[in-house]
Order: sequence, then structure tokens, then C-alpha cells
Amino acid sequence: MVNAHAPVFPDGFLWGASTAAHQVEGNNVGSDFWQAENHGTGDLADRSGDACDSYHRWPEDLDIVRDLGLNAYRFSIEWARVVPAPGHPSRAMLDHYRRMIEGCAERGLTPVVTLHHFTSPAWLRAEGGWTSEAAISHFTAYVRAVLPILDGVPWVCTINEPNMVAMMVTRRANGMGHADPSFVTPDPGMTAALSRAHAEARELLASVPGLRSGWTVANQNVQDHGAGPDRTAEMSYLIDDQYLDVAKGDDFVGVQAYSRLRAGRQGVIAPGPADRRTMIGWEYYPLGLEDAVRHTAARLGGSTPLLVTENGIATGDDGERIEYTREALTGLARAMADGVDVRGYLHWSLLDNYEWGSWEPTFGLVAVDRTTFRRTVKPSARWLGQLTQSPAAALGQGGAA
Ligand code: BGC
Repeated sequence: MVNAHAPVFPDGFLWGASTAAHQVEGNNVGSDFWQAENHGTGDLADRSGDACDSYHRWPEDLDIVRDLGLNAYRFSIEWARVVPAPGHPSRAMLDHYRRMIEGCAERGLTPVVTLHHFTSPAWLRAEGGWTSEAAISHFTAYVRAVLPILDGVPWVCTINEPNMVAMMVTRRANGMGHADPSFVTPDPGMTAALSRAHAEARELLASVPGLRSGWTVANQNVQDHGAGPDRTAEMSYLIDDQYLDVAKGDDFVGVQAYSRLRAGRQGVIAPGPADRRTMIGWEYYPLGLEDAVRHTAARLGGSTPLLVTENGIATGDDGERIEYTREALTGLARAMADGVDVRGYLHWSLLDNYEWGSWEPTFGLVAVDRTTFRRTVKPSARWLGQLTQSPAAALGQGGAA
């Protein structure tokens, strides 16, 4: 029974923004993605280069988050920096990330820390990658190295979007581009490796008092648009639900939602000219967040708390970002009023950052000058910061108590 008088967004709800190391830090030279950008097949339009120089400018980024009135920041630790050579973790890099964690605390921000956000050390790829014999022990050695700096971190995401990582393997194997809308089955070997890495990491992380760990799933929101219930359920299982099932019993699960996937009679119905689309080509579908949290809670049986670790829109029109986010949060409030246990909302992204091969799609609440690295806070950032002061009022009926 829902308590009609309880505020939908409870005290302590996390309101923040997210980033990932490779997309903002710059010069992540030891990572596999850097290798692909600079020594790969040449199919990536842009290189990350200096990115947003957040490796040096993270204090400024944290100041912005605090000054907006947000209370949380999600960022990732870069495995390739912490372990530049297998067996030889870098003390200086661990100190760097520890300073970031302390920097959050000094500003009253809750850190949400991701251990693996798409990139791995180039040396791991050279050794055969994630499905090689030693990959899991390499990953657990990395997790062991970071354990001492995680003191005081309440939320740790082990692996970001394992489903997307495993789908990427299939795409690569079939020479399919990043934006190809066809349905792809995630690589089973990669799925098994990441699931094992996640479980072993969680076991190690359990030794840190007060730390909750989970992984984040890119919720695709597979919807039946002619495929029929059986095929829709099968598609949903392959790309979402098998990863949600792994999260059963975890301390939380991260929900990441941007749009939806329409399952048609002939396969995926790609958004066409008649559909409203975002800068990255995805269908404009802000209700995806509400669908995703409801779906995730239903799949997990309601026992695992949810944290929205990513939601946002690539757009050059900041007014559209506000429109999208308002609709997404109104839907989130509706789901929470119905009893879905959500502990926070972290917008993707704090900064206009490197979108995995391209600088074009802008997801940021804050613009970054590509030459001077000067940050310019967008109206959407101020709007979100203000909303969080009194969300129920800002969202009207949908967010009201
Ligand atoms: C990823 C981010 C990415 C965002 C937008 C998520 O899949 O975690 O790294 O930038 O979506 O594509």
C-alpha cells in the first residue's frame, strides 16, 4: 500500500550527474579504447585526446556539481591508470582517485564510483581480452588494489552496462557499425566473463564497511510493436533481463535508460523520419525511464533497490534537454509513487564529453570549450539543481506527495 502522504522523493535521495573516466579525463593512453582511436581500423570519427581535461580539472567539476545544489557525483576509476602493467598498481594513481573521493566528501557530495566503464587496459586486450584465461584474476587484482581507497564510498558500480559491452563484441565480429539498429545477441562468452567478474568483485567489496555494490544495466525497453509477446520476451531476455537476473541479491542495481526498442514483425523498428529523434539518432522517448524502473523492479521482484545511474539526451537545444528530463522525472515520480524503490537520479552527463568515437553528440548539463576547457553551465543544469530543492512542487501532480 502506497502512503499517499509520504514524499515521493525521500530525504537522502541522491540528485546528481554522471561521467566516465575515458570520456572526460583525457590522455587515457594505456586503455584499449585509446589504442583503437589512435592505432585502430580508422572507423572512429574522433579521438578522445585531452577530452575535458577532467583528470586535472576534477575539483572544478565537483565545485560545479555542488554549486548547482546537487548532492551526488558518479565517476569512474580507470583500470588502465591504476594498473598500467599487470601486477604493478600505481600508488600515485590510487592517490589521485582517493583525492577525488575526499573531494566529494569535502563538498558534501556522495560519490558513486564505477570500477569499469567500457575501457580496459590495452595490455589485457593484448593478452586476449575479457574472455582470456587470466582476465578475471586480473580484474580482481585491480579491485583488490582499489579497495583501500573506497573507504567512505557508499555506492560502487562494478561494471557499467555489461549488456552493451557483450553486444559490442557481436557487432565487431559481424562488422556492424555502432549505430546499426539491427538486433544483436550479446556475446555469451563475454556475458559469462563479466558476470563472474562482477560476482567476484562484489565478494571483495563486501569487506568495506557501509559499501553497497551492484552493476548497471542499459535498459533497452523492448516493446512489442508486432513481434508478438514471445519474441518480445525473448529479445528482452537476451539484451536486458539475463543481466538483471545476475543482479538478484545485489545491494542495488543501476538503471540506465534513454529511449526504447520497438520489436516489429521484421525485427527492430528503427526510428524513421516520422519519429522525433535525438542528436544521436535515438527515438525521443523520455518515458523510457519510467518503463525501465518499473521493468527492473518487476524483474527483480522488488527486493533490490534501484539507483538511476544514467538518463539524459543528446541535443544541441538545451530547452529540449529540460523538456526531456522533466518528462523523464515525472515518469520516475509516478513509478516511485506506485512503490518502486529508487534511491537516486544521476543525470547523464555532467559534461559535454567524448561519446565513444565522436565529439558531436552533446549530452552535457555543462558545455566544455574544446580548446580552453572552459566550463559553461547550461540553463538545464540550473533548472535541474533548482528542481532538486523541491522536486514535488517542480514536477506538479506527477511529483507531488
Ligand atoms: C554509457 C555512456 C554513454 C551514454 C550515451 C551509456 O551507454 O554508459 O558512456 O556516453 O550511454 O551513449
